[in-house]
Amino acid sequence: MPAEEKNKVIYVSHPSGSTAEIALYGATVTSWKTRGVERLFVSQKAIRDGSKAIRGGIPLVFPIFGTKENISLPQHGFARNSYWEYLGLIADNNEVTVRFALKDTALEKTLRNGWPHSFRLTYTVTLTASSLKTALMVKNEDQDTFEFNTLLHTYLNAPDISKVSVKGLTGLTYVDKVQNGAKATESRDEVTVSSEVDRIYCDAPNKLQVNFGGLNVVDIEKFGLKDTVVWNPWIDKAKAMGDFGDEEFHNMICVEVGSVADWVKLGGGETWTGGQVLSVL
Ligand code: BG6
Repeated sequence: MPAEEKNKVIYVSHPSGSTAEIALYGATVTSWKTRGVERLFVSQKAIRDGSKAIRGGIPLVFPIFGTKENISLPQHGFARNSYWEYLGLIADNNEVTVRFALKDTALEKTLRNGWPHSFRLTYTVTLTASSLKTALMVKNEDQDTFEFNTLLHTYLNAPDISKVSVKGLTGLTYVDKVQNGAKATESRDEVTVSSEVDRIYCDAPNKLQVNFGGLNVVDIEKFGLKDTVVWNPWIDKAKAMGDFGDEEFHNMICVEVGSVADWVKLGGGETWTGGQVLSVL
């Protein structure tokens, strides 16, 4: 890819005034605005030169979540660290859609060796007046079955983390990564954040609501995806990250829908789709 293409960003706007921006690097949605309000968080220290996944927006996790023994891939896989091909835009009165693709042949050899399968990913981002839909299609172009994890690592913009609550997780089993992976059951009706949080809520319901205080609410509806991760690095982890401001944990929450607790198995020649719709009042 020519150097000038590498930092390319696709700008999408809807007649209502809502907008979105997607970097070719990672096909990372880096901005979503409705009624002039930015709904996604991107760190002021995010690195945008293609040397590291963008710290914010909606990085795409594929084909592993975290790191895995015996799979030599970077944390959260290669999709967020690869340049995607822009396939173009389709608009009608109600929505504007842009599509991106990534094939195994576009990966560096070391990444291909870490997960030696033939695949095609198609990522579709659809903007309406009040919603943003992001959907990933995975096509197995091998003859044999392969396994993957995937997750939409959505960083939501929070004016004040002390006012944020997530509804819809009550009664679920979660894996608590802050407690070395211990399992527990969520007893709260509204999950709030006042310390480091890093939890995989398994088999989460498709509808969740994130309340930022008052009428500032983002509804999340997932499809084809089983789990929901809630993450805020809080004070010490924030300080330890070079691409995240020391105080920025006050202004974000990651609510990440994905299939990460178990592998998704995809037969040779088959196609799988999963995604989310984020919407505001
Ligand atoms: C979350 C994980 O999804 O991503 C956390 O549950 C992790 O454990 C976080 O720290 C950020 O990961 P990274 O690789 O972007 O720093």
